[in-house]
Amino acid sequence: MTDSRGTVSRRLFVSGMFAALGTVPAAAAGASAGPSARPPGGGAAWESGRRVLRAAPATVSLGGRTVSTWAYDGLLPGPTIRATAGGTVRTRLVNDLPAPTTVHWHGIRIAADMDGAPGLSQRPTQPGGTFDYVFTVPDPGTYFYHSHVGMQSDRGLYGPLIVEDPAEPLEYDQEFTVVLDDWQDGVNGTPDDTLRTLNTTPHDDTLSSHVLGGTSGHVRYPYYLVNGRTADEPTTFVSRPRVRARFRVINAAADTAFRVALGGHRLTITHTDGFPVKPVTVDTVVIGMGERYDFVVTLEAGAFPLMAMAEGKAGRAFAVVRTTPGARTPSPDGAVPELQRRQLAYQDLQARRRDQLRPPSRTVTVTLGWRQGTAGSEWPLNGHLSDDPLRLRVDRGETIRIVMHNDTHMWHPMHLHGHTFQVRTTERGGPRKDTVNVMPYKRISIDVHADNPGEWMFHCHNLYHQEQGMMGLLGYGKPPKRRHVMSH
Ligand code: C2O
Ligand code: CU
Repeated sequence: MTDSRGTVSRRLFVSGMFAALGTVPAAAAGASAGPSARPPGGGAAWESGRRVLRAAPATVSLGGRTVSTWAYDGLLPGPTIRATAGGTVRTRLVNDLPAPTTVHWHGIRIAADMDGAPGLSQRPTQPGGTFDYVFTVPDPGTYFYHSHVGMQSDRGLYGPLIVEDPAEPLEYDQEFTVVLDDWQDGVNGTPDDTLRTLNTTPHDDTLSSHVLGGTSGHVRYPYYLVNGRTADEPTTFVSRPRVRARFRVINAAADTAFRVALGGHRLTITHTDGFPVKPVTVDTVVIGMGERYDFVVTLEAGAFPLMAMAEGKAGRAFAVVRTTPGARTPSPDGAVPELQRRQLAYQDLQARRRDQLRPPSRTVTVTLGWRQGTAGSEWPLNGHLSDDPLRLRVDRGETIRIVMHNDTHMWHPMHLHGHTFQVRTTERGGPRKDTVNVMPYKRISIDVHADNPGEWMFHCHNLYHQEQGMMGLLGYGKPPKRRHVMSH
């Protein structure tokens, strides 16, 4: 492959999944491999031909432990979809699940009818049915896809979507995709069972603030995964000393934020939620559900722990970055001092000049609340639950500011479909993102440029909160007449 300066790119396309399976092509560990180093199923082929994505019950190995779940193409995570910015992705969803489903392309500025929002952009695809997703990917970056029906994405129904930049300005030799997840399906019943338990357990807000203070979620999971594998038989990312490696980290978990560090290294953060930032070097970064971070590291010689602590929970996801074949494998229980050092804050992140949005024409406030309902916890937005959703109206072309005020003791990683907003860490600055953590009792402002007409979901990416009502809409022009648009 050729870069913008016409020289042969040294970048390699080795996903962690392939590295974990030990199928890295021999050339891939070197710095001179050409286009043949792309993994099978990656690259331009996905754009030019239509691929099938089959959602079905599957038996998958988490490494040491085998579970029954629902997955795409029998893989955990689902297959990596690679495309080039400006290109078209064509995917036929085949639903072999015993339940209706959709695929949502998280973070993509997509045409509204391809957004996979059940009851809003499409009817869910019934068992035995198919749906053709055909869409252009305007912006390069690290994205993912997942089911948007019920608790399905807390099973195995998620996978990476990587949009390459044909004029990639970042210099690196090799890249790895790192997908984080919290796992219970097939171990402790299903995510639907857990949701039912949450809904029948009386919730004491006062008590919880002590017990759960500072946590991202309510659910204690038996496993936390990197690329579908537990800490006991971890994913290994294979490279060489002095290689400049780009890590694309995706938090696909339903209820867990992760604190990520790579033992013996500092992380130069280059992107969040697909969009570039002015590079900033830190030791650790906390990644909420639905968020992505890319960082670049010049690798030392040895074998290093890639640690992702389940924030506020006892548990960790763990992988190994190995650049020396003989080096001793780090223990998943070992200390990683970087986790305690300099942590990335949103205030550290600054969008490129060309990604800065104009000042907003108006401001709306959205209060993120909690209340005890008859069927368990409810998480309203300005008092509205998803069955009668908050409707934010915008005019095409305008920029509005949404001030989110978290009036609860829980984290809410708020996500807007179809747009990449600008988080206002200062009046004029801040990163472009599509998912932002609103911490307990804190406020955060985002500016949204209304450049992609449609009715868009605006919701908490804690899947339990979402299913307990924490979803509104942002739309253009008059609201549609239909009510209860989101009942599935
Ligand atoms: Cu990643 Cu509405 O979701
Ligand atoms: Cu939430």
